[in-house]
Amino acid sequence: MKRLIIAIDGPAGAGKSTVAKLTAQKLNYNYIDTGAMYRAVAWQTLQQGVEPSNQAIAELAQNLDLKLDYRNGKTNITVAGQDITEAIRTPEVSRLVPKIAQVAEVREVMLKLQQDMAGLGGVVMDGRDIGTHVLPQADIKIFLTASIAERAKRRWQELVAKGYTIQLSELEAEIAYRDKEDCERELAPLLAAPDAIHIDTTELSIEATVKKIIDLCKEKLTGV
Ligand code: CDP
Ligand code: CDP
Repeated sequence: MKRLIIAIDGPAGAGKSTVAKLTAQKLNYNYIDTGAMYRAVAWQTLQQGVEPSNQAIAELAQNLDLKLDYRNGKTNITVAGQDITEAIRTPEVSRLVPKIAQVAEVREVMLKLQQDMAGLGGVVMDGRDIGTHVLPQADIKIFLTASIAERAKRRWQELVAKGYTIQLSELEAEIAYRDKEDCERELAPLLAAPDAIHIDTTELSIEATVKKIIDLCKEKLTGV
């Protein structure tokens, strides 16, 4: 049976990675978290105390020994063998990453890696520019959204569960800043592809969202 290419884009907290992972598990496909790749560059920048000039960040991205390993519903991310899966989720990394993602050379390196990883199909990839730039040939393109209040609440709950002390209003501001930076940047901005299917998850459960995507895959595979 044909193995599909599924692209899922949308803003922070819309549910992309949760829904993408579950979809990949159900279909026995690979899952690629492209946000984690940009986060890894931001993490390394902070780690090395690199002067955040475009040239320094570009060099760092070009030499980054980055690996993503998706197994049993979980992605492990390493840089030079060091596990950074959790370390890339800190508020500090979240604040820096939209700037890193605006550097042309960083995007070039990531684009090539992502296209290579997608291979011939059987993949769910999520991010901001997957349907528009990375995999414009994708069989299914989803654009996930949710209200900013709901997205901030989701992120807040996650961080509080991990032991962070952070105000909900702080997260609303961070997400609004990231939305603006990602939507207004010149290179590969956050944008729905013209042929993307929009799903608003503000009041839609994870399970219902995954079902919608699986139904779309079935339709595609059976030609219905
Ligand atoms: O998980 P969350 O939605 O908070 O963000 P993410 O998917 O981990 O992405 C972090 C950041 O990486 C985004 O805010 C973008 O600045 C950047 N990014 C991008 O530019 N292009 C992508 N394909 C994925 C992420
Ligand atoms: O990848 P993205 O930033 O778009 O979002 P996520 O990390 O998949 O989801 C953020 C949080 O929202 C997670 O804790 C999900 O469990 C939760 N979520 C939810 O409550 N309802 C949904 N329909 C989707 C996600």
